[in-house]
Amino acid sequence: MFNKKCKVISNHEIAPSIFEMVIENRDIAIEAEPGQFLHIKVNSGSDILLRRPISICEVNNDNITIVYQIIGKGTTQLSLVRSLEFIDVIGPIGNGFPIDKEKKCAVIGGGIGIAPLLELSKRLKNCDAYLGFKADAYKIDDFERYCDHVIVSTEDGSSGNKGYITDFMKHIEKYEVVYTCGPKIMMKKVKELCHVLPSVTCYISMEERMGCGIGACLVCTCKTINTDDSKWHYKKVCTDGPVFHAEEVELSD
Ligand SMILES: Cc1cc2nc3c(=O)[nH]c(=O)nc-3n(C[C@H](O)[C@H](O)[C@H](O)COP(=O)(O)OP(=O)(O)OC[C@H]3O[C@@H](n4cnc5c(N)ncnc54)[C@H](O)[C@@H]3O)c2cc1C
Ligand code: FES
Repeated sequence: MFNKKCKVISNHEIAPSIFEMVIENRDIAIEAEPGQFLHIKVNSGSDILLRRPISICEVNNDNITIVYQIIGKGTTQLSLVRSLEFIDVIGPIGNGFPIDKEKKCAVIGGGIGIAPLLELSKRLKNCDAYLGFKADAYKIDDFERYCDHVIVSTEDGSSGNKGYITDFMKHIEKYEVVYTCGPKIMMKKVKELCHVLPSVTCYISMEERMGCGIGACLVCTCKTINTDDSKWHYKKVCTDGPVFHAEEVELSD
């Protein structure tokens, strides 16, 4: 993990309220694994003290791409950063997705949850992608470059199939590993589908509000079950996750 001032190569809107930023840093790019995240100080001159966690979407040589949705003050500030400015970044942080290139895999993303699945798709050999959006699908071309099949759905029917992406996941038993990131309700459904199929291993990327991002403040804890003693515990999403075995985490509403 590094703390670096990273040069912003580009930062622009790719869909309504969705921005793609490319930053440059060799050390972070070399260490970055799919599923890990960056903890970003959104603007050195602003009154926003807490950093914002954003997933690593793709790595190309010394460049790291992130894709983020404008939610509040922090992400709005981030969208105002211009090319050639520098931002303060801690990363890469956390445990990413376990990768087994030989296995038949599916990545299942909902909305901005597709972001950490792109670099993962790139590193897997046999991978299909299921990508669901409310409206305005994005990054589809990139997934098509790395995946065997890409299935898209939008709730308004503007791209791909009309409906929830989980409605179009037929024959999930053909996969050995399923990776998912997105709204809790979608990940819950994916977990349920995989749970009844002992041959399918499912990994979930969790999202919780964060403070320090480095395991010190306990703001980001999530409820987990220890499969050995069946007892509930709490783990830190920032350093124990954000990726967990689906059977290990409770996805409360
Ligand atoms: C491991 C991880 C990876 C993430 N990856 C991405 C990504 O790739 N793209 C993306 O658009 N978003 C991602 N998020 C969510 C993103 O961090 C929040 O949307 C963002 O922090 C909102 O900040 P804000 O100031 O604009 O919103 P505000 O609502 O004003 O934020 C107020 C506070 O709440 C926190 N917060 C608000 N929403 C979330 C949230 N959903 N998750 C965690 N903290 C939140 C903020 O960090 C801040 O401390 C990720 C979150 C986590 C935990
Ligand atoms: S954010 Fe502080 S322990 Fe995870």
